[in-house]
Amino acid sequence: MNVLILGNGGREHAFAYKISQSKKLENLYIAPGNAGTSLCGTNVDISASDFEGIKNFVWKNNIDMVVVGPEDPLVKGIYDFFKNDEVLKDIAIIGPSKAGAQLEGSKDFSKEFMIRHKIPTARYQTFNKDTLQEGLKFLETLSPPYVLKADGLAAGKGVVIPNTLDEAKKELTEMLAHAKFGNASAKVVIEEFLKGIELSVFVLTDGKNYKILPAAKDYKRIGEGDVGLNTGGMGAVSPVPFADADFIKKVEERVAIPTLKGLQQEGIVYKGFIFIGLMNCDGEPQVIEYNCRMGDPETEVVIPRIKTDLLELFEAVATENLHNIKLEVDERIATTVMLVSGGYPEDYEKNKTITGLDKTHDSIIFHAGTKLDGTNVVTNGGRVIAITSFGNSMEEAIGKSMKNAEIISYDKKNYRKDIGQDLMKLEKVKH
Ligand code: AMP
Ligand code: GLY
Repeated sequence: MNVLILGNGGREHAFAYKISQSKKLENLYIAPGNAGTSLCGTNVDISASDFEGIKNFVWKNNIDMVVVGPEDPLVKGIYDFFKNDEVLKDIAIIGPSKAGAQLEGSKDFSKEFMIRHKIPTARYQTFNKDTLQEGLKFLETLSPPYVLKADGLAAGKGVVIPNTLDEAKKELTEMLAHAKFGNASAKVVIEEFLKGIELSVFVLTDGKNYKILPAAKDYKRIGEGDVGLNTGGMGAVSPVPFADADFIKKVEERVAIPTLKGLQQEGIVYKGFIFIGLMNCDGEPQVIEYNCRMGDPETEVVIPRIKTDLLELFEAVATENLHNIKLEVDERIATTVMLVSGGYPEDYEKNKTITGLDKTHDSIIFHAGTKLDGTNVVTNGGRVIAITSFGNSMEEAIGKSMKNAEIISYDKKNYRKDIGQDLMKLEKVKH
């Protein structure tokens, strides 16, 4: 099979790494990719959202399957673009239709969808510019902290959680009256604050059948002890110790199955990943959000744990044969630690030479924001390298990632040294 992966992050490197091991693979391309993906296949200088460019490349290179990494092309309708094109319609796309991608593309849509299908989620109301006054009044009926969500895609920054009513009112006004997030905040979802521990469960579906993939927890804040600004994710672990078989069963019965049935009932075509962002509230799952793709850096711990040939799984997604495939998962614990650029998630510099990559051992090094400059690997983004390790215990896995985090070096390198520590403490309390 000839495969094209769209995207340029650690998630896409993890896909490329796994797909390059498939016995079904002939040629692998990544558009645009990074320095790491070029070790698994051929990078192509086309943006993941340049549909015409992708079409030309797919046609000229006899691509059989396109694996879509990020949400942007999905929300813009790459699936429909392919399926409505006489020339492209038979090419497999791993990712939902434009309608399905609304689960991530519109918070309002996804909340309404959850309510329609009785999927547990926080109580909410949606407001726009014309109903700003009602929104301000609604805030008065809630207790702090307040959760305000821009309806559309806002590069991961669209959720604000003010602690006081005054701040919440100011924020709502900024979002609705002053378009703080542009068109993405033309509508704002206000919802109840959920108390609990967050985790993510991933579902791969062919539209009829599904597989529940390993769960993961990511570390969103920049600072150790979960303080400071939100990032794309500073590290991840899988499995999640507090998400035992009982809890995952609840997620399957109360969230995954009703979600898939809901999509079918509404005639929404969905062949790809559903990322379910959850709060574990005293053992009861509540949905925080859906994403229409895999998480990053969650992919860097989930995909290495999957032993089944990834292209076989994807082929089964495309042909609606997922029920005929056995999903095999590595029982060991996987952890990933993200090395980031100094200053991230605010302004940071790029083009710093990365050294020590060849000196690492016992970890898989996934590139996120890197590129080749001649033969040098240099930084090219906020999140630079994800270091994934396996262990029979979390201590063992984290220990390996941390060792290699010291070995890899570049100017102003930053990373969290406490990835997994909270979970290890929880485990100690339990035993
Ligand atoms: P989202 O972009 O929807 O993932 O939201 C960003 C982050 O805000 C989530 O990862 C949670 O940590 C937090 N969050 C979102 N909704 C809620 C909620 N209803 N209660 C508590 N925290 C929330
Ligand atoms: N790590 C969170 C996300 O991919 O959205």
